[in-house]
Amino acid sequence: MKTAKDYIVFPLDVPSSSQAKSLVHLLANDVGMFKVGLELFIRSGPELVRWIQQVGPARVFLDLKLHDIPATVQRAMAQVAELGVYFATVHCGESRTMLEAAVKGAGGRVNVLGVTVLTSTSPAELAEAGYRERYSRDLQQLVMKKAAMARDAGCAGIVCSGQEVHSIKTALGDGFQAVTPGIRPVDGGVTADDQSRVVTPAMAVRRGSDYLVIGRPIRDAADPREAARDITAEIQGALTVHP
Ligand code: C5P
Repeated sequence: MKTAKDYIVFPLDVPSSSQAKSLVHLLANDVGMFKVGLELFIRSGPELVRWIQQVGPARVFLDLKLHDIPATVQRAMAQVAELGVYFATVHCGESRTMLEAAVKGAGGRVNVLGVTVLTSTSPAELAEAGYRERYSRDLQQLVMKKAAMARDAGCAGIVCSGQEVHSIKTALGDGFQAVTPGIRPVDGGVTADDQSRVVTPAMAVRRGSDYLVIGRPIRDAADPREAARDITAEIQGALTVHP
């Protein structure tokens, strides 16, 4: 059964295997999943993924954000599936065929998440890239369109901000998983850093997020383990009120 700590995805945003391993040792029993991104995967690769899986109960989210021709994405995702990770990402990009290829490559062995619009993207950049004003002006519309494309292609869910979860769940169904970064605990004494659309862990869960990506509020805390446990308690509180 999914418990409160299982909602927490901790990103291993560090450049070396030894730094990643220290964090995994520290947090393996207090978070549900570790996210391995491009920087660490390029450095430490499948070996580190296997090590994380052996060292404790936490799962692995491989965040490589694939984007290529469908045949290549399908073969790459088949290799990702071999690693036994729980989540893997693909850009929603401009082609539903590519998303379908990712799902086909996954073969039901890994849950594929679509990345809709990177939060670093501005309306001016989208306009410059040729997007119609309707979508470049209103990122929310573009997120919804790409989320629907991911759902129709068979993806398990998407990565989205806590402010988008409710409309995504309403439009695309409760079973479509929402993984939410940009989480900041109220009393954690941390700033929003470079995250623009932040919500608290309790707000995210109440709005329907299935998993919360929480990095700096845990990593930069005086006691990261205690910070993770406090967040788990906050999630538990939100689940108790809205199971
Ligand atoms: O909690 P913190 O801001 O430190 O989390 C940063 C993590 O969230 C990074 O691993 C980053 O890739 C991920 N992320 C994000 N914004 C998105 C998607 C993912 O910050 N829109």
